[in-house]
Amino acid sequence: MTKGNLLIKNAAELVTCSGFEAKKGKEMNELHVIPNGAVVIQGGVIQGVGSTEEILKNYCESDFQVIDASGKSVLPGFVDSHTHFVFGGYRAEEFSWRLRGDSYMEIMERGGGIINSVKATREASKEELFRLGKRRLDSMLSFGVTTVEGKSGYGLDYETEIKQLEVMEKLDQEHPIDIVKTFLGAHAVPKDYKGREDAFVEFLIEKVLPTVVERNLAEFCDIFCEKNVFSVEQSRRLLTKAKEMGMKLKLHADEIVQLGGAELAAALGAVSADHLLQASDQGIEDMAKAGVVATLLPCTAFSLREHYARARHMIDHGCAVALATDLNPGSCFTESIPLVFALATLYMKMSIEEAVTALTINGAAAVGRADKIGSIDAGKQGDIIILEFPSYKYIPYHIGVSTVEKVVKKGVLVFD
Ligand code: NIG
Ligand code: FE
Repeated sequence: MTKGNLLIKNAAELVTCSGFEAKKGKEMNELHVIPNGAVVIQGGVIQGVGSTEEILKNYCESDFQVIDASGKSVLPGFVDSHTHFVFGGYRAEEFSWRLRGDSYMEIMERGGGIINSVKATREASKEELFRLGKRRLDSMLSFGVTTVEGKSGYGLDYETEIKQLEVMEKLDQEHPIDIVKTFLGAHAVPKDYKGREDAFVEFLIEKVLPTVVERNLAEFCDIFCEKNVFSVEQSRRLLTKAKEMGMKLKLHADEIVQLGGAELAAALGAVSADHLLQASDQGIEDMAKAGVVATLLPCTAFSLREHYARARHMIDHGCAVALATDLNPGSCFTESIPLVFALATLYMKMSIEEAVTALTINGAAAVGRADKIGSIDAGKQGDIIILEFPSYKYIPYHIGVSTVEKVVKKGVLVFD
């Protein structure tokens, strides 16, 4: 992608979210706001950040494309650190069953759920998955997302898991949004391995992981650690192997039943543990100590009509919390960042400042890139959003509607 030279000046406020690592506990409330701010990007990289007066003293406007952000709030691009955006087919029927009273796990246990998306994804061509993935990325970009994490996990066989990761690799090259790829081969137990879960985990370790690692097809390895899916022991086995092979770790942990996924994430040094609706006090304490980012997915809890994860308790006990959409065809079909903000602030007792941190620098930390993205700091990639309003406080206030007017990726205006 091209890398731009851009100067943004006169921002009503420049919300830098300054920092190079995850923000824990009280730090999440500090956004570092510069009134009448400006930022300079050269060759796609942020060079200068400060008041407009200071920046215009040091840089010559004629060397740059200039955006006058008078009356606008300027922030780092959002990092959506947990999605399953490459999949074939849809499961609208299951949504209507859930409205009728069936639970997500009941549908899964009678052979529906993830397995339905697996069938459709196995049947889809790479071109079709690319086309669908691109459309979803375009939608995410319009919400101000500049980096997204995407998981495999709708293949559960060698060919399709690799196919999903290859599609994401191509999208990463061709779409302005950066994609962080995660191998989630252990997302469900395929039909031919029912009752032989250990053998399926061995299959992933022996037959799929080596290719993923050799071809650098994913940075992270993830698993759905859940009652009647993969146990804590199976999760430990797969993730330990993946770590030995050089991968970073994530877990779908303590979503529906409290199994000890948060504790396992801390013990294994995972970068993040995600969902965490049922995480125990001990698990939360362990994550805070081990520096595991707690990635919370309020749109999923909303869509499944579950109670929300204990964000307040986690932050008050020193955790770094990230927020993400969990975009997927089953439990949560949405790209909506405004909905994440609305739920986090109205129902999870997070302040607006904490929610902004959770979608910027802490989202970046959840994908292992807090040193490169997630804040407006000199040396970081020039990924920036400009709101149509003068303050970040309008983000949840304009309920469920995007306030993002412009998106800049590596110094290039990519959404206007
Ligand atoms: O994060 N919980 C497991 N995985 C996804 C749902 C995937 C699906 O239903 O297709 C999630 O919610
Ligand atoms: Fe998920």
